[in-house]
Amino acid sequence: MSIRVLCKQTIVLGVTGSIAAYKAVEIASRLVKAGAHVDVIMTEAATQLVAPLTFQAITHRPVTTDLFDPRGELGIDHVALAKRADLMAIAPITANTLAKLAQGLADNALTTTFLAVESPVIVAPAMESHMWLHPSTQRNLDTLQAWGTTVVEPESGHLASGAEGVGRLAEPVSIVDTIRFVLGRDGPLAGRHVAVTAGPTREAIDPVRYISNHSSGRMGYAVAEAVRDLGARVTLVSGPTALRAPAGVEFVAVTSTHEMRDAVLDVLPDVDAVVGAAAVTDYGPAVSSEQKIKKAEGGFSLELVHNPDILMDVKAWKEARERTHPIIIGFAAETENLIENAQNKLVRKRMDLIVANLVPATFGSDRSQATLIQVDQPVERLPSLTKTELADKLADRLVYLL
Ligand SMILES: Cc1cc2nc3c(=O)[nH]c(=O)nc-3n(C[C@H](O)[C@H](O)[C@H](O)COP(=O)(O)O)c2cc1C
Repeated sequence: MSIRVLCKQTIVLGVTGSIAAYKAVEIASRLVKAGAHVDVIMTEAATQLVAPLTFQAITHRPVTTDLFDPRGELGIDHVALAKRADLMAIAPITANTLAKLAQGLADNALTTTFLAVESPVIVAPAMESHMWLHPSTQRNLDTLQAWGTTVVEPESGHLASGAEGVGRLAEPVSIVDTIRFVLGRDGPLAGRHVAVTAGPTREAIDPVRYISNHSSGRMGYAVAEAVRDLGARVTLVSGPTALRAPAGVEFVAVTSTHEMRDAVLDVLPDVDAVVGAAAVTDYGPAVSSEQKIKKAEGGFSLELVHNPDILMDVKAWKEARERTHPIIIGFAAETENLIENAQNKLVRKRMDLIVANLVPATFGSDRSQATLIQVDQPVERLPSLTKTELADKLADRLVYLL
């Protein structure tokens, strides 16, 4: 799947001698699949751990391992890769290469390219905990950060030595996500702040039971990523999902509808747009029992009450202040009378745009067959799109609306 912000971008991927070097193969693969041109540079130590041919086969491009190779591109122009890079990512980066970069050494193809590159740089360290926590490593990282380098922090968990601790390379998908975030920074939504709600909400019946729905959260997360890729600052307010928080977004985890409403109202004064992609649970128990409700003979009935309608509250907030912003984009999930119901919702909640979806087909699926409805605009029926493609369309509409 091509990802817009990565498509046709030239990424120099530096790989160093960490045991996590094999994970760089997945990073390269994800970038290539997303449409990027990937030039891999390996240190001598990295080639001891993964064969250069592996990267060559994945990227369909020559791999640079030696600055002085007379047949290599750098043998002709030793900063050729630096010149054409839209972004340089070094993943994994060893303690050793970090130290060299912080000192300005240029003793191999990778360190030389780093010094010459003018594009943004991302580093993703991977090492044993003691190496990571060493003041020398931390100082070197601080130096790089002060120069504007983005650091993808390592994670805690099982390390190659068998120990548990901090130092594991961040997941390849998170590193690619950070590359998207950095590449998109100056996009058409730069300087804008967008709040996105995603996922289901849960209403507690008692400490172990709840009422909710099948929303996976994928649509809202895809929207958060798409507007971030265009440069927006994003606050993602998410109900419980199995998804990873996208890189570069401010993530607010909530459970109930009231929590989600409060989190949205908190950021309202500061945002230019609200995208309500969450599947809010419309009704919750009138009373939530503090103790687990015991199973008993016979039936059981539960009194339900209306939950807050978050986009209605956003509308009321705007009206009370006579403001035209934030722009409101909502979703309508309907099983029948799709357009008519969505149009009513658009008008009732004074939305700027509504995305109408037929359910249950879209719930939990990666595809969506949506219709976009805007006040005073012709209805646009979209073909079957992935949620990522639909999110890109919405991000474009948001650029236009703002
Ligand atoms: C099997 C193996 C795994 C290693 N893993 C790491 C690592 O994860 N992180 C690190 O900083 N160094 C690691 N090292 C040490 C580096 O390979 C060593 O410091 C080397 O000089 C790094 O060179 P480079 O920075 O030019 O790639 C490892 C060494 C070996 C033998």
